[in-house]
Amino acid sequence: MYVLGIETSCDETAVAVYHPEHGVLGHAVHSQIDIHVAYGGVVPELASRDHIRKTVPMIRTTLADAGLELGQIDAIAYTAGPGLIGALLVGATLSRSLAWSLGIPAVAVHHMEGHLLAPLLEDDPPQMPFVALLVSGGHTLLVEVTEIGRYRLLGESLDDAAGEAFDKVAKMLGLPYPGGPAIERLAAQGDPARFRFPRPMTDRPGLDFSFSGLKTHAMTTLRTAGDDEQTKADIARAFLDAVVDTFTIKCRRVFKQTGLKTLVAAGGVSANRQLRAALGELAANVGGRVAFPRPAFCTDNGAMIAYAGYRRLAAGEGPTESAGVRPRWPLVELTAPGS
Ligand code: KG4
Ligand code: ZN
Repeated sequence: MYVLGIETSCDETAVAVYHPEHGVLGHAVHSQIDIHVAYGGVVPELASRDHIRKTVPMIRTTLADAGLELGQIDAIAYTAGPGLIGALLVGATLSRSLAWSLGIPAVAVHHMEGHLLAPLLEDDPPQMPFVALLVSGGHTLLVEVTEIGRYRLLGESLDDAAGEAFDKVAKMLGLPYPGGPAIERLAAQGDPARFRFPRPMTDRPGLDFSFSGLKTHAMTTLRTAGDDEQTKADIARAFLDAVVDTFTIKCRRVFKQTGLKTLVAAGGVSANRQLRAALGELAANVGGRVAFPRPAFCTDNGAMIAYAGYRRLAAGEGPTESAGVRPRWPLVELTAPGS
């Protein structure tokens, strides 16, 4: 079964083909960063228009890379939310029309379920139940996963998402968007002993997060300590250390609280090497394991959408009847396929 995955929820157009035996056969991501950079943030209307321009040509090139014809595709999975309404509508309308014309099922996928399942695309995938740490530009979630579609929320960010905090602190330091990779690079030059930032919400029980205080802390430090290059690198380092430490503390807590020993971490921030190393060490210490997607599948991609759609179809879910999209769509509202 060849599943075409189409992702257009925000500022990246992504297309991929997944096959259960052959894995990911082709994938392409087009970033709109150049379009939005002049405006200091994503402009929804420009995002929609660019998805319209890019999606069809990208489907063509991805199929060509995979050595497939359109007629060989068995199903189309598309992101139906959460995200920007216009951007989602482009992907949903195109996917559903194409599926209809080919006489194949179209399956709506939740973007965060795509992220959550992405680690299972790797060799030796972890078995459910496990805990998922989902850290992207819009979400920070700790979720207990018992099966596809059965997700229990254990913790979430009460304010900024982790990726959003990286992006805002990066902007403050004069770094380009996306901020995560830029902070990671600058932090490598920073002195870890110069500043110590707080580890928010680790001094009380619970698994929720808060990152907006760290952002303010970075701003105050920048104002008082100066904005020379070394100070900026030291701030990047202190911020990154605080975020990584906070996640490690909460994940240690979640292992204890749930009795589970398998963690998956996904979403853009899970590409961070320092976070990957720290969670790897934590899992080793408790005799458990942590699984990540390969870096290209941590950030938005079509492979995770194709794979999530495949898993739902394989578990007996029928084609999605509604043509609607859901800009706001809590992950925990999902249900198991066929339930
Ligand atoms: O999952 P994603 O591609 O898009 C959303 O669904 O939001 O995540 C994007 C976020 C951005 O905020 C970006 O700064 C962050 O992931 N990110 C990183 C790294 N790479 C991307 N954060 C920290 N370290 C990284 N290496
Ligand atoms: Zn995402």
